Amino acid sequence: MPAAPRSPTHLAGTTISLRPSTNFVETAAVQELSDRALGYLRAGLPVHFRGPAGSGKTTLAFHVAAHLGRPVVFLTGDDEMTTSNLVGGQFGYQYRKVVDRFIHTVRKYEEDATRHWSDHRLTTACREGYTLIYDEFTRSRAEANNILLGVLEERLLVLPVPNRNESYVRVHPEFRAIFTSNPQEYSGVHDAQDALSDRMVMIDVDYFDRDTEREIAVARSGLTASKVAQIVDLVRDYRASGEYDQAPTLRTSVMIARVAADQNLQISSADPRFVQTCIDMLGAKASFNSRSKDERVQQRKMLMSLIDHHCPAGRTRNGAAGRPSRPRNELTDA
Ligand SMILES: Nc1ncnc2c1ncn2[C@@H]1O[C@H](COP(=O)(O)OP(=O)(O)OP(=O)(O)O)[C@@H](O)[C@H]1O
Ligand SMILES: [Mg+2]
Repeated sequence: MPAAPRSPTHLAGTTISLRPSTNFVETAAVQELSDRALGYLRAGLPVHFRGPAGSGKTTLAFHVAAHLGRPVVFLTGDDEMTTSNLVGGQFGYQYRKVVDRFIHTVRKYEEDATRHWSDHRLTTACREGYTLIYDEFTRSRAEANNILLGVLEERLLVLPVPNRNESYVRVHPEFRAIFTSNPQEYSGVHDAQDALSDRMVMIDVDYFDRDTEREIAVARSGLTASKVAQIVDLVRDYRASGEYDQAPTLRTSVMIARVAADQNLQISSADPRFVQTCIDMLGAKASFNSRSKDERVQQRKMLMSLIDHHCPAGRTRNGAAGRPSRPRNELTDA
């Protein structure tokens, strides 16, 4: 029996239609990464963006996927992920009840229930030839991701629980896959299997160069380029210091710039609200537990001197000479 025609809405909520974002910043460095990835994907190879937190992997994956021009299926790795979450399975019941009253004195009832198969996102992408973005795929356990081995190599999705009509799905020729992972993440992350990594082209995405970070922070905050430059340089210098447990990223620069734009802060060590914002966003990158009080005092002093250096107290908006502001510090003022 031919398969029932698929209604246009049968995939509603599963796929994303993408257009290249007008907010996306494409400097030479970003374009180089995206062109490389598109070249491999167009040749039919899966691509894996690997890089630290906040380095722009997910944004790049969406950008590249938009250029492929196919609907996108998005998945995020998770320790609880199972093969059936990825592929689908037999769910629910369909009931059928027949009441036969052919002879009026006899009543015959027949009742049966059949489970019905439901495709999940990986199956949908393979069947329809969509682009799969599997973000942070190493957060899922290797057993869950095993199903991808056949998809990427033999282009065959073997259904773990065969449904009534099929035990495998041939992968559509336009199916493409983009993966991301963070090799620096330790909590809740599994090692990618060699066999799976071997099937992908790995592209390392490191922190962007200074100009790219500045352009992105301008695009994402609305703050002027000169103010953003001070914030980005402050964050980059703090990152270079190594005095933290969690590296401050481009995302931190964007967050500080957004608050500064929204609250009309001066990018100056004379503005206590700006200084407090920097301390809140950057000071927290040093873990409370892993450092002694002395170390935390030193770390805070270093941060204050970076703020003074990159955002010197010039003249304030009302013309008065500014002085570096020191919000009350629970470490040094104790
Ligand atoms: N090329 C770009 N154009 C515009 N914004 C960007 C670009 N790259 C990154 N961003 C912005 O930088 C921030 C971090 O990017 P993204 O979330 O893609 O990083 P990530 O590497 O996926 O981080 P994580 O590992 O934490 O998930 C986001 O706010 C994102 O919007
Ligand atoms: Mg991400």
